[in-house]
Amino acid sequence: MIGKIALAAALILGTTAATAQTVKIGFITSYSGLNGNLGPYMERAVRLYLKQHEKELGGVKVELLTRDDTGPNPDKARQLAQELVVRDKVNLLAGVIFTPNAMAMAPIATEAKVPFVIMNAGTSVITTRSPYVVRTSFTLWQSSYPLGQWAAKKFKTAYSLVSDFGPGHDSEEAFGKGFTEGGGKMLGAVRVPLQNPDWAAYMQRVKDAKPDVLQVFIPAGKTATAVMKNFSELGLDKAGIKLIGPGDITTDEELPNMGDVALGVLTVHHYSAAATRPENKAFVEAWKKEYGANETPNFVAVGAYDGAAIIVEAIKQQKGKLDPDKTMEIFKQWKNPKSPRGPIAIDPETRDIVQNEYLREVKKVDGQLANVELETVGTAVKDPWKELQKKK
Ligand code: PHB
Repeated sequence: MIGKIALAAALILGTTAATAQTVKIGFITSYSGLNGNLGPYMERAVRLYLKQHEKELGGVKVELLTRDDTGPNPDKARQLAQELVVRDKVNLLAGVIFTPNAMAMAPIATEAKVPFVIMNAGTSVITTRSPYVVRTSFTLWQSSYPLGQWAAKKFKTAYSLVSDFGPGHDSEEAFGKGFTEGGGKMLGAVRVPLQNPDWAAYMQRVKDAKPDVLQVFIPAGKTATAVMKNFSELGLDKAGIKLIGPGDITTDEELPNMGDVALGVLTVHHYSAAATRPENKAFVEAWKKEYGANETPNFVAVGAYDGAAIIVEAIKQQKGKLDPDKTMEIFKQWKNPKSPRGPIAIDPETRDIVQNEYLREVKKVDGQLANVELETVGTAVKDPWKELQKKK
């Protein structure tokens, strides 16, 4: 008798489990190590979007399996992705701050046919490494190429300083191309170690070259504040050198730590928490309501927020039963005219994000430092590196 009841209960449980779909996302990001403060922005953004859109999921549950890749650490990221795919049988991979980690994970996405939503890592080549990769963040070419073009109209000479890894190399090349095509002259380019560079030595080299502008890319987070402080302490501003770069160098969450040395720094980027478009105001307000009045989202958050949006769309269209190839087709057709950063879309040919790029200046707004958008320097920008590759 007891046996029969247990069996019946097991059958009932079995059927319910089969109807209530669960989508498992293997979410790998950085909660420790270099710029480990960025991971929580990514996770919070995904959770916020899922909470806001829960009702649209028709009862499908989304389970986020969060893992710490401990910073730029490709071996760790590969191992975590493998475990998530093989043992936890995730339907999707997502997250990833750092390019080397995304590069290490791409072959796993291909082998296992698991769609992989990149929410930050910005080196152009990443999306070419697997047909199962889609990117909702940015490329460094999208910001640094228009930055170079813009800078050539204002300045005669430039120097470039970048972190010595994928996105730094892209930023250096893209800026240099835009700047020299516009008639500017590059006086030099230096690549500094990703971790703990000897700032004084590198900044001195730049100071001695006396460029009109210094373009910098370093990964957002604490490194951005280190650059800002060293630039000023070593007197480059007083020597009349202007600091510019992609928006990573004035990342919104670090502005309060940078202080007034950041005032007047000009950057090109796709997202500012201070943007006044209504969709962004609503996003910032929802963020503060969820996480506290003193909390502000940043560009990592918006990449993840839109990354969650694309995932929700795939879940809705397939009623929670995700087929990898169908999912990729849905991703390729996705667009949103009203992202907090403005209109965005996925380029179906490259699976990379298409978005506007804004020129911004760090100013005080209500007593707080903010990246104030001045003008749109690029509309519906496709990754310029891929556009150039096509012409080759
Ligand atoms: C990257 O590794 O691709 C990366 C990291 C931090 C950034 C931008 C890009 O701010």
